[in-house]
Amino acid sequence: MGAEIQTFPPEHLKERFDRIVARYPKRLAALIPLLMMLQREYQHITPEHMEGLATYLGTTPAHVLGVVTFYTMFSHRKRGKHHLYVCKTLSCHLRGAPGVIRAFEEKLGVKAGSGEATPDGEFSVDTAECLGLCEQAPCVLVDGQRFGNITPEMVDQIVKELSR
Ligand code: FES
Repeated sequence: MGAEIQTFPPEHLKERFDRIVARYPKRLAALIPLLMMLQREYQHITPEHMEGLATYLGTTPAHVLGVVTFYTMFSHRKRGKHHLYVCKTLSCHLRGAPGVIRAFEEKLGVKAGSGEATPDGEFSVDTAECLGLCEQAPCVLVDGQRFGNITPEMVDQIVKELSR
């Protein structure tokens, strides 16, 4: 185990882990919700998390790795405390998503999709395929919540609100 986690599940998450696993007829079915919790808690999934989770759920680290690398919501690199996705699919692209992406990159000083977080660890930006809010394009997903009709001029305010 790495320095970040000595036991698995980490002591402060153990009760929540056990509660989630108890909801499913098979332990392995809890894999994605548990990965989501680890991603939220540590802003990334480490090899130690994958090994620990594999043992905890009775599967292999390779199986966990397969799930982690399949879904873009999981990351090996530490994301910011606030992670933003800007939709880059057609409706959003045509209605100004490239300008919104540029505005976030300029404001935060990180490249979208680079996996980098701002030096203070507060923000990271990614692009995403359709977020299912095409009628309000361009759309941004901020900490799991979708916002539509975003313009580059709104970026300063969004970052300011999240920094509070
Ligand atoms: S194309 Fe952006 S939300 Fe659907």
